[in-house]
Amino acid sequence: MFKKLQLTLLAALSLFMFSPVVAQKKLGNETDAQKQKRMEWWTDARFGMFIHWGLYSGAARHEWVKHNEHLTDAQYQKYFDQFNPDLFDPAKWARQAKAAGMKYAVLTAKHHEGFCLFDSKYTDYKATNTKAKRDLVREYVNAFRAQGMKIGFYYSLLDWHHPDYTMDDVHPLMQVNHSEEDYKRLNKGRDMAKYRQYMRNQITELLTNYGKIDILWLDWSWDKGAKHGKGENDWGSVELLKLVRKLQPGIIVNNRLGLDEYTDGGDFATPEQVGPAELAKYKGKTFETCQTFSGSWGYYRDENTWKTHRQLLDLLITSVSNGGNLILNVGPTARGEFDSRATRALDSLAHWTHANGPSIYNCTYTPDAFQTPEGTKLTYNKTSGRLYVQVYQYPKNGKLTLPGYNGKIKYAQFVNDHSEVIYKPLNANDLELTLPVKKPDYEIPVIELVPEGVK
Ligand code: GLC
Repeated sequence: MFKKLQLTLLAALSLFMFSPVVAQKKLGNETDAQKQKRMEWWTDARFGMFIHWGLYSGAARHEWVKHNEHLTDAQYQKYFDQFNPDLFDPAKWARQAKAAGMKYAVLTAKHHEGFCLFDSKYTDYKATNTKAKRDLVREYVNAFRAQGMKIGFYYSLLDWHHPDYTMDDVHPLMQVNHSEEDYKRLNKGRDMAKYRQYMRNQITELLTNYGKIDILWLDWSWDKGAKHGKGENDWGSVELLKLVRKLQPGIIVNNRLGLDEYTDGGDFATPEQVGPAELAKYKGKTFETCQTFSGSWGYYRDENTWKTHRQLLDLLITSVSNGGNLILNVGPTARGEFDSRATRALDSLAHWTHANGPSIYNCTYTPDAFQTPEGTKLTYNKTSGRLYVQVYQYPKNGKLTLPGYNGKIKYAQFVNDHSEVIYKPLNANDLELTLPVKKPDYEIPVIELVPEGVK
């Protein structure tokens, strides 16, 4: 039953988050050019790491476990009591992320369960009071910064632990008791105004105590069409976003505050767990697709639907070839490690990005003058003017036709080793590349084309 409800809610959520709402109002006075400049590093970075880590990592069966199993605070307490991340080594996380080719990271400072990985003055429900005994956010910030990565925080607008946070259709306590009477009864004594202040206080802590923060991910709003949803007015989103921008003027903020009617109510769209075909619909928009390795964000021991290396590459390439970013999630274990499945996936990404990175970073969709050859996807470096043919279907006989490319390019090489790829005109319009019959050692090899007129 609750599963069904969750599915319905998620469907409503995706409709709301991904449907084109015509934004008209404006909160600030930043021009398009200024926004582009502010977001330049992010647009060029293309690939980031999401990290969902919290008490739910101990339950190891979805970060929504408290909702899914409608657990009370008392029932959930054991995960707090047992939390002891003895293998937590954020320097290792940062090295793994960097090696995989990721340029930024976003860590759940607080997820829906309400537990804070940081040392907040405003709650006792925090890492410093567990066996970890320290501010895990600070260690993450220092470690990732030391690797030259940009730093992001995820902060959940929902809070299933705060005593003033009111009931709604996804609150764990509303999963068994969901009549209107229950709703009223459970809401007695709760005061969202106090909770809003709590959020402002914590966000102020996060944005003042840890130096420059590059990204803030505020999650999420579902007031439209839901019986008891929450959105802009519940969070005090306008005020919250103004506060964020005041505290960290350069920061990049996602679009889940429920401010879709404002052109500047969020910096980027957040298509979640969508397939490559869906991503194509975002071409030309500023977007970051967030994706898991498996079916859950938080560590899920028994979940085995892990995406393959090819699927992960496809998401990365398809995002870039439509002008967007990919943020790929790792759910560390309760001991504080990336498990072997995540590590394997990251290692294979490292192998690919190390060799083929130039076709990802600073890249976007290709100018219309170039057609996509069959069995490939294209990316394009807007600074160098070079074009990248991502060879999804490696031709058995080594012959790859570039339709309409005759006279348009002057050199071709593999990206991974800069070895020349010979080509010849096939007719007045088309070129034919001759690739080695043995496919290079990459799931999706990449050919770099230098167009005429480009250095
Ligand atoms: C959804 C889920 C949440 C996850 C997020 C990532 O909003 O509620 O568990 O953190 O998506 O995009």
